[in-house]
Amino acid sequence: MTRRILTAVAWPYANGPRHIGHVAGFGVPSDVFSRYQRMAGNEVLMVSGTDEHGTPIQVQADREGVTARELADRYNRVIAEDLQGLGLTYDLFTRTTTRNHYDVVQQLFLTLHSGGYIVERTQLSAIDPSTKRGLPDRYVEGTCPHCGYDGARGDQCDNCGRQLDPQDLINPRSKIDGATPEFVESAQFYLELPAFADQLRQWLGTRTDWRPNVLKYSSNLVDEMEPRAITRDLDWGVPIPLEGWKDRSDKRIYVWFDAVIGYLSASVEWSRRTGGSWESFWHDGAADGYYFMGKDNVVFHSVIWPAILLGSRGGSFGDLDLPSEVVSSEFLTMEGKKFSSSRSVVIYVREVLERYGPDALRYYLCVAGPENADTDFTWEQFVTRNNTELVAGWGNLVNRVMSLVNRNIGSIPPAGDLTPEDLAALEASKAAFATVGALLAGNQIKAGINESMRVVGLANNYLSTMEPWKLKEQPERRATVLHVALQLISDAKTLLTPFLPHASQKVFAMLGGSGEWSGQPELREVEDLDGGPSYPVLMGDYASAQAVWESQPIVPGTPIGEPVPLFTKLDPSVIEEELARLEGDS
Ligand code: MF3
Ligand code: ZN
Repeated sequence: MTRRILTAVAWPYANGPRHIGHVAGFGVPSDVFSRYQRMAGNEVLMVSGTDEHGTPIQVQADREGVTARELADRYNRVIAEDLQGLGLTYDLFTRTTTRNHYDVVQQLFLTLHSGGYIVERTQLSAIDPSTKRGLPDRYVEGTCPHCGYDGARGDQCDNCGRQLDPQDLINPRSKIDGATPEFVESAQFYLELPAFADQLRQWLGTRTDWRPNVLKYSSNLVDEMEPRAITRDLDWGVPIPLEGWKDRSDKRIYVWFDAVIGYLSASVEWSRRTGGSWESFWHDGAADGYYFMGKDNVVFHSVIWPAILLGSRGGSFGDLDLPSEVVSSEFLTMEGKKFSSSRSVVIYVREVLERYGPDALRYYLCVAGPENADTDFTWEQFVTRNNTELVAGWGNLVNRVMSLVNRNIGSIPPAGDLTPEDLAALEASKAAFATVGALLAGNQIKAGINESMRVVGLANNYLSTMEPWKLKEQPERRATVLHVALQLISDAKTLLTPFLPHASQKVFAMLGGSGEWSGQPELREVEDLDGGPSYPVLMGDYASAQAVWESQPIVPGTPIGEPVPLFTKLDPSVIEEELARLEGDS
């Protein structure tokens, strides 16, 4: 049965280029899932964009001496290019500075406000004593009043996970210059989270298939919810759509309230650009919504966004569905053993793409990413896995078989009588579709890629047992063995498509396929739909790609040419070079 799937991917901040830890959390997992779902015949809407408001943008803009808008424009483009390079198949990757987004955010704000779920109160807010400008929560640091951890931030303590306000911190200090912030009275709007506690608790009680860490963490959050300020003393953000507030230049809706609404506004923008129905992904349980992110984002997706959705029922967007699952990854550290974590070493997506290509990185993040526990990226492991698993395992298999067929036969040979070994190999690879499919439907990416690679291993074993290169005198048997090997390769390329779409496209072509096997995102320059400045988006026509989640019989007689290389073997000196680069950066 065809299902509809909303893949909602966390919105990267447009305050700098993204590093591989970011795409390990939100990027690659959401794309693997979406590609699999499309191949399985489901209708997918995958949306996201750059998160361009809030203090992370403002602070970086100040540092670079440009306006927030200029900074956001620059990194929106850089990030969109990187995500395209990685092959992430967004149906729409947009940004939060579109007029469409402002409009959707303001409408939801008004619905919640008239429902009594957004309320004005006075709070103490932190300002920089010298500039008198508002200090963003994340830029106030101090000691956590709950656990005593000294590096707590004004929005959250990373040690005990509790939500904080800057004035809760003991010994608060500005992260920018270390000064002690002043606290002044200031009117803000609050989201009345406790009003949703019972509904959220009930809903979380039904979410038994979530990753256990995420469910447990979310349930704890519901037990200690307090009203949360959703506006700030800022001049960069969505204006507050109320009389007496909307023309003020010093108050804005705060970034988190607007960013999560991006899932809806991007769906609406997608509808407006393509004629598709956003409603069919948001109403009446017609679709399942999967939200992908790193673990520092869980609270916003399992508590705050669901509360906004509940509070907006009956408003201009109708009754919106709650997430089916919040799929959160743990953290990826980078060479954490070699460099102390305080130096926060980062490896940028762009550099890895330029030097090693998208599939080498995708492979690593799938097979050794932070799916269920914090993990460390090391160049040594990157090079080793690339060389042994991709080059020697998968690439070499394809190359050997294709060369043998090309040199000796020139086309896909028909199979003669199949031996029990031939049948067993074919059966095992066919059976992998159900196994890997179930794993991917449950977002068990690491297990999924390992099962897919098992078919590669099986094919390699089959070859070394059958030794077709020794079968010159038995051309019929040789043809059968090569036929079986080509069928195993065809299956493996399909099973690996969600993870390694670029390599699978090449194998598809080598097996005589033409056109697009697995879709790729395009970077398009588009007009703002409501008269704002134009901007780049990622979109793609993924439905017309040919990849299907099943074993497809290869067709005897199809010409087989010279193989092309799938992956590049890396010299071990790469490890030293990359480590030296990190040393230079930090
Ligand atoms: N920009 C945030 C971050 O990078 C994530 C926002 S996800 C959203 O941590 F849902 F709020 F958009
Ligand atoms: Zn704490």
